Amino acid sequence: MSADSSTRPGESPAGAAARPRCIAVLTAGGDAPGMNAATRAVVRSAQGAGIEVLGVRRGYDGLVTGDLEPMSSRAVANIIQRGGTVLETSRSEAFRHQGGRERAARHLKERGADALVVIGGEGSLAGATVFHGETGLPVMVLPASIDNDVPGTDYSIGFDTAVNTALDAIDRIRDTAFAYERLFCVEVMGRDSGFIAVAVAVGAGAEAVVVPEIPLDMDDLMRRVEESQNRGKRASIIVVSEGPRTGGVLPLARALAGRFGIEPRIVVLGHIQRGGAPTARDRLLASRMGAGAVQALIDGAPSSLIGEERGEIVRVALDIARQKVRKLDPALIDLVHRLSI
Ligand code: F6P
Repeated sequence: MSADSSTRPGESPAGAAARPRCIAVLTAGGDAPGMNAATRAVVRSAQGAGIEVLGVRRGYDGLVTGDLEPMSSRAVANIIQRGGTVLETSRSEAFRHQGGRERAARHLKERGADALVVIGGEGSLAGATVFHGETGLPVMVLPASIDNDVPGTDYSIGFDTAVNTALDAIDRIRDTAFAYERLFCVEVMGRDSGFIAVAVAVGAGAEAVVVPEIPLDMDDLMRRVEESQNRGKRASIIVVSEGPRTGGVLPLARALAGRFGIEPRIVVLGHIQRGGAPTARDRLLASRMGAGAVQALIDGAPSSLIGEERGEIVRVALDIARQKVRKLDPALIDLVHRLSI
């Protein structure tokens, strides 16, 4: 358990909230492979403990409009392997406003829900923290975002699948890159964070990686490409996080073309990375976190993010989780460069 964890599984803190009788569950923000496995784990862990579950459609929007339906164990049959989210999701504008959150709280009360589980990314964590602060309702958050930028956890549900999907695509690109001796610029997702790009660049054996957190040094990049060509490299791949902060793949490819008189090929992987069956790692993570969220509610633990730190499932109080900062590991960027010689 981390130092921030307020309770251990099975432990009830003094003055703990009463054991819930009915838990509402929703998925919010960008969908991530493994959200369904997390929903399944929440529903079945709750039902196994004799707690009712209400599924909320379309994320926080469904809370605001009162779109809640009872979910039985059977309702989550055959979804552990499916990408997307059967509950559907949204980036809710209405929930950003106090009036919307008041309506959401009213719907939960009317339907008898005395706790909430939110499966989503950084924005969903922010919404959950505000909602808990205003209502006092126990809220557990499961980090789910392909970007892996949710604070308070080493890994978010969906990241592993997105990275593997991108790698699968780049392995195919490599075949043609080597056959034709070409330079490829591949754009991956993550407009505000470069975790996907860095993991993909290491795994794909890329020449260089461009991320939103670090301003692009075009001269350095040109020098790397030039040196690799001088060393007789037949093909190269540069991984770029999507714009707007990096500028995306197009301006970079144009600059390389201008400098070297070659025409780099461009591939934008886009939303392909968000879909598809979750990997074993994401299914396992989602199942452990979903069960961990229900156990935290049963224990009367303070409202928390259910994270994974050094392989262990931990509870990090919501306000503490929000203060944490997820930082890219510069050693991984260095590794990309050192292994591309
Ligand atoms: O947050 C997940 C994510 O897929 C990011 O990687 C990406 O920048 C963004 O969502 C794309 O959002 P949208 O699906 O709204 O285009």
